[in-house]
Amino acid sequence: MTDSFASFDASLFFDESLTFADVEPGDDQRWSTWPAITPSERGPEPWPEWVVTSAGAIDTELGILKTGKEADVFLIERAVPDEPTQRTLLAAKRYRSTEHRSFHRSGIYTEGREVRDSRAGRAISKKTAFGREVAAAEWSFAEFQALSRMWELGAPVPYPVQVNGSEVLMEFLGTDATAAPRLAQVRSDRAMLADYYAQIVEIMRVFAAAGFAHGDLSPYNLLVHEGRVRVIDLPQIVDIIANPQGLDLLHRDCVNVCDWFARHRVECDAEELFAELLASSYA
Ligand SMILES: Nc1ncnc2c1ncn2[C@@H]1O[C@H](COP(=O)(O)OP(=O)(O)OP(=O)(O)O)[C@@H](O)[C@H]1O
Ligand SMILES: [Mg+2]
Repeated sequence: MTDSFASFDASLFFDESLTFADVEPGDDQRWSTWPAITPSERGPEPWPEWVVTSAGAIDTELGILKTGKEADVFLIERAVPDEPTQRTLLAAKRYRSTEHRSFHRSGIYTEGREVRDSRAGRAISKKTAFGREVAAAEWSFAEFQALSRMWELGAPVPYPVQVNGSEVLMEFLGTDATAAPRLAQVRSDRAMLADYYAQIVEIMRVFAAAGFAHGDLSPYNLLVHEGRVRVIDLPQIVDIIANPQGLDLLHRDCVNVCDWFARHRVECDAEELFAELLASSYA
């Protein structure tokens, strides 16, 4: 007789003395990677209270949120078994090594950026397998650093929990296990959209005042969560002044945002916005 519960381990449910040592991660699971992460690769302190730091926590992959051109984003639960207060949902953005990518971010973004060590730099330019791994990790570090910096400046980015090789773990923006919609998919009336536009200008101002442009701003990289606009996808943020393309990229961000809002009947002048942001970057 086949027993559909053959793999069901009743002791896990009925043994009241269960401790984490009795639990073994399953196929879509791993021990939380947090304990092994070096401090500089953990998010800015103070850590939000929802960050699960226990060595007894298990990471469970719940599904894929999006496969992208350069990275895939997964929904992860990090939880201590049997401790309902020690449970959180995270987004894991995993960069592909460049051989698996269908698209290469243009070199204009990396001009002026330093690769952290020269061995890695040589491997990247020679495109060895190690070099491709390093290149993927460079993007994840770039995104983690950008998220950390913008978080500390108070910009509404997802909190960056940690970076580990080519994987960035960040706050999951969503309700239950449903991701917050991209601005591009949101159906709102004009007044609501005008409010979102004002929030986006404020976000762009925070970036500009710190000397940065997002560099790939579009209604696909803006999520609307609980009435607030949040900005994601930051690996390519550019220094407006140091990067020779900085002003062009800032201008392109303004045009992308304004084109979308203008099409949705929200008044928006890309040139005015650009001038205003330039002024705040010099202030
Ligand atoms: N922190 C998050 N919380 C919820 N959803 C997220 C989060 N980060 C990313 N996503 C989802 O995954 C999608 C892809 O994320 P992101 O834009 O960072 O990656 P990408 O590789 O640049 O994707 P694309 O190639 O589509 O631009 C987002 O549009 C969003 O739907
Ligand atoms: Mg994106």
